[in-house]
Amino acid sequence: MPPQISADLVIVANRLPVDRITEDDGSPGWRRSPGGLVSALEPVMRANDGAWIGWPGGTDNDLEPFVEDGLSLVPVALGAEEVEDFYEGFSNGTLWPLYHDLVAKPEFHREWWDAYVAVNRRFAEQAAAVAAENATVWVQDYQLQLVPQMLRELRPDLRIGFYLHIPFPPTELFQQLPWRRQILAGLLGADLIGFQLPGAAANFVRLVRQRVGHKTHRDLIHLPDGRTVRAAAFPISIDAEGFEELAARPGVAARAAEIRESLGNPETVFLGIDRLDYTKGIYVRLRAFGELLAEGELTVGHAVFVQVATPSRERVDQYRRLRDEIDRLVGRINGDFGEIGSPAISYMHSSYPREEMAALYRAADVMVVTPYRDGMNLVAKEYVACRLYNDGALVLSEFAGAAEELRQAWLVNPHDINGMKAALLEASRAGPREKSRRMRAMRRQVMEHDVRRWADTFLSELSCVGGRDQPPLRRV
Ligand code: G6P
Repeated sequence: MPPQISADLVIVANRLPVDRITEDDGSPGWRRSPGGLVSALEPVMRANDGAWIGWPGGTDNDLEPFVEDGLSLVPVALGAEEVEDFYEGFSNGTLWPLYHDLVAKPEFHREWWDAYVAVNRRFAEQAAAVAAENATVWVQDYQLQLVPQMLRELRPDLRIGFYLHIPFPPTELFQQLPWRRQILAGLLGADLIGFQLPGAAANFVRLVRQRVGHKTHRDLIHLPDGRTVRAAAFPISIDAEGFEELAARPGVAARAAEIRESLGNPETVFLGIDRLDYTKGIYVRLRAFGELLAEGELTVGHAVFVQVATPSRERVDQYRRLRDEIDRLVGRINGDFGEIGSPAISYMHSSYPREEMAALYRAADVMVVTPYRDGMNLVAKEYVACRLYNDGALVLSEFAGAAEELRQAWLVNPHDINGMKAALLEASRAGPREKSRRMRAMRRQVMEHDVRRWADTFLSELSCVGGRDQPPLRRV
């Protein structure tokens, strides 16, 4: 019998916070996925009989709710066609590029939209079924923007929050969406809508005023039914203490030394770690590095670029093409400049556990984060948290949300390849005092504003809006 769930706090996200694994005896099992979101929410979830609703990945359709590590997990099944139309299609072929400033061209297909509506409804129904009376439900990200309104229709007693992890586009771009009104109405089902940056919240409020005609005042939207919705910025962060603690482990320090050793102990290790995504600017940063080698500003043996690209959305066309382009570029640069035992670029298309990431962060002299557009970029913050001795340098795109907090990074415009080359050189040649001054300030910011604080702030603000009388969540 599946557990009967009646949760006071329900998280609704496209993905469950666990990965499917095969146990030693060959039976299927689950392993906690390492995201910061789940670690931040775990204590408050436990204190409030929390439940997490999400897609377990794949097309396994007969999964019942289960308890893993004390958390109630409620899988939402997707059929093969829904994976294509809802996940790969509307979520990642339409919304993802549209919300990232058209870095790639979004495609608009009516059957993708129909699947988006149907799957959002399934998530909303599942949330309605497991939420206790007057519960708080927190819906996450662009895959589920219709859930707040659908859920409110089913369960008007609930307090509903929504958080968008990716950028919200300028109004001119959002207007291209044939279903723009439905998306706005979907989001307005929430009491509190959170964005990464104040500019994104302002874009949203302006659109609602212009397109839907609701009255707005600063960050408040007044609906004709008397409800008030608030749209505001809550910049997300990482489990900063967790990363710091990991980086301080002797095993991680030893692994960092081993990594440098196996790279031939160069003077400068540049590092990029990204999901293999066209928004991340991986190609342009490797090109910049290649040009610096060609011009003799950097030389193989003295400098190496380590690029980790985590496989992602591999069945979507644009991602396949990107992988080929990067394979080709890495091959060319290594072919032109590499020597036996010293490649110019050490390129890994795979994902690594947190320990290995922390070791890479410790091993890197210059972390290179150059997205064309990024909601926040947590890799930049993880690097900062792992620099225990205030050394190392961060080269960061102005178009990552993190740039609003990490002002002391070497900020670059990823469209300006000469500017990026100059920043890579400057960062690699900066003296220890300069690096320490910058890193110290960034570490203070990241250590103080961690993901726990982000979650607490959002949930406590959520309990203040809406003007209804749900009991507050139990604090931890
Ligand atoms: C971004 C999105 C998340 C998403 C993640 C991984 O961070 O904001 O919602 O889960 O990418 O992408 P995937 O398509 O594998 O879930």
